[in-house]
Amino acid sequence: MNNISVDWCHKIYGFGINNVELHPHNHQIKTTTPMGHTLSTRSIRTFVLRQGRLTEGQQKSLDQYWPEFGVEVIADTRLNLDSCFGRSAPVWLEIGFGNGEALVSMARAHPHINFLGVEVHLPGVGHVLGEIANHEVGNVRVIRYDALELLEHHLDANSVERLSLFFPDPWHKKRHHKRRIVNAEFLKLANRTLAHHALFHVATDWESYALHIEQALADCEFFNKVENDDTNKAVTNARPRTKFEQRGLKLGHVVTDLVYQKTS
Ligand SMILES: C[S@@+](CC[C@H](N)C(=O)[O-])C[C@H]1O[C@@H](n2cnc3c(N)ncnc32)[C@H](O)[C@@H]1O
Repeated sequence: MNNISVDWCHKIYGFGINNVELHPHNHQIKTTTPMGHTLSTRSIRTFVLRQGRLTEGQQKSLDQYWPEFGVEVIADTRLNLDSCFGRSAPVWLEIGFGNGEALVSMARAHPHINFLGVEVHLPGVGHVLGEIANHEVGNVRVIRYDALELLEHHLDANSVERLSLFFPDPWHKKRHHKRRIVNAEFLKLANRTLAHHALFHVATDWESYALHIEQALADCEFFNKVENDDTNKAVTNARPRTKFEQRGLKLGHVVTDLVYQKTS
């Protein structure tokens, strides 16, 4: 596999992105990255692309800021994260950042960290680009892609210091449980990508998903639950309230934060 810099990605990205994302007839969001690559080749996906048009502001942000803060993945190529960020610093990865408010807020609170966010929902990507620009945050980069493919094919081993997964889709119907992102395969991919003793922080407002996550982690050899109260509190308290969390709280759900550390 080759390493590739984001500068090079931007050089080959020359066509603008507003012309590739919306289906001309029904405005369904197409399953492609801004460069037109397929978002995922997996048969079982952990996401469904929510319908909805991009707002004018989101489209404008995509056009204006994707070249600066967006990162394209290239087939069979691992990203050179130092060149994506233009500096060498620890990388924290957030999977499924939604509208990205937590990502930007954490990046502002930790300017010495490089924050990488991956999301498939295009309006969310547009939204976060606008937030990055509004707050002039230099330490966030955004990828529109299936996080599982990113972990498997595009990130180097031991390259991420912290993995955040805030309110992953709960897929609460039994027949959909196979679509839950936290499972043995995900944990194997996370283990490969995370640095030694890196932290994995996951939060959910679905009790049954919290139990499922705890079981999956108990069954895997790669992570230990962090029992230290101070570490737990510090990690949990650093998580800003997210949009889906607010939704869950309004419905009376109880939020569970779980923090794990890689065993090696
Ligand atoms: C329930 S929402 C939570 C969003 C945000 N973290 C929050 O708390 O407001 C889950 C998000 O994960 C994204 N997602 C699900 N599977 C994904 C995958 N494999 N790769 C990238 N994003 C994914 C979905 O598009 C969705 O925006």
